[in-house]
Amino acid sequence: MNIERFEDDELLSAALATRVLESIVARPTLVLGLPTGRTPLGLYRELRERSGGNLIDWSQVRTFNLDEFAGLDPASPNRYRAFMQAELFDHVSIDPANIGFLNGSAPDLKTECRRYEDAIDQAGGIDLQILGIGANGHIGFNEPADGLCSHTHVAELETESREANAQWFGGDWRNVPERALSMGMATILNARKIILIATGAEKADAVHGMIEGLISTRLPASILQVHPRVTVMVDRGASQRLSG
Ligand code: GLP
Repeated sequence: MNIERFEDDELLSAALATRVLESIVARPTLVLGLPTGRTPLGLYRELRERSGGNLIDWSQVRTFNLDEFAGLDPASPNRYRAFMQAELFDHVSIDPANIGFLNGSAPDLKTECRRYEDAIDQAGGIDLQILGIGANGHIGFNEPADGLCSHTHVAELETESREANAQWFGGDWRNVPERALSMGMATILNARKIILIATGAEKADAVHGMIEGLISTRLPASILQVHPRVTVMVDRGASQRLSG
């Protein structure tokens, strides 16, 4: 794994935005995998600001988000889809038809998961997958467990992950859905290039285990160690347990 350290979240976000925008300029048909959460907020702010006025042509870029809550009303502002519209999609020249998203209110969630895998395949696979990491080491909603799912699936959320998402649900973790749809480990590992971002001291243990620990399904992000092209971008807080 290639580790890049930054003094703070702002510098990290600016550097990552530069990399994403350069990738789009170099390959206008880039297929991007995107995360939600607190960590990528700075990235999306930078992408909005630096793509404005059609400075960057997003019209052929395709995106696939990692995950989505199950069972929310299609008009719910708490859907990850609504988050992505507000933080990025509404502000850049992306073609709505090129936005890949899991539909958490689909009548048959298993069929929806298969549709998503097929859509990623038909797009030619993900060129650049950006990931956050949960404090418990999850990526997407692949939660620590004795076994992990390979492909897009319905996931039961740990209380810790529901607590981490409570800020989007009026601060009460019991309002956070118990289930979500998520890309699986193989879906993520099939990306040609992966950049994982982590900020803040509450991620330090997970980052340490992911990079310096054994590969374990109890820390799903550690499985990224087998991927040949992973970059981990960390701020001072998230890197405080790393040796060297
Ligand atoms: C959430 C999402 C993940 C995200 C992670 C970290 O629950 N499902 O995709 O990367 O947890 O979130 P945050 O960046 O808010 O710490």
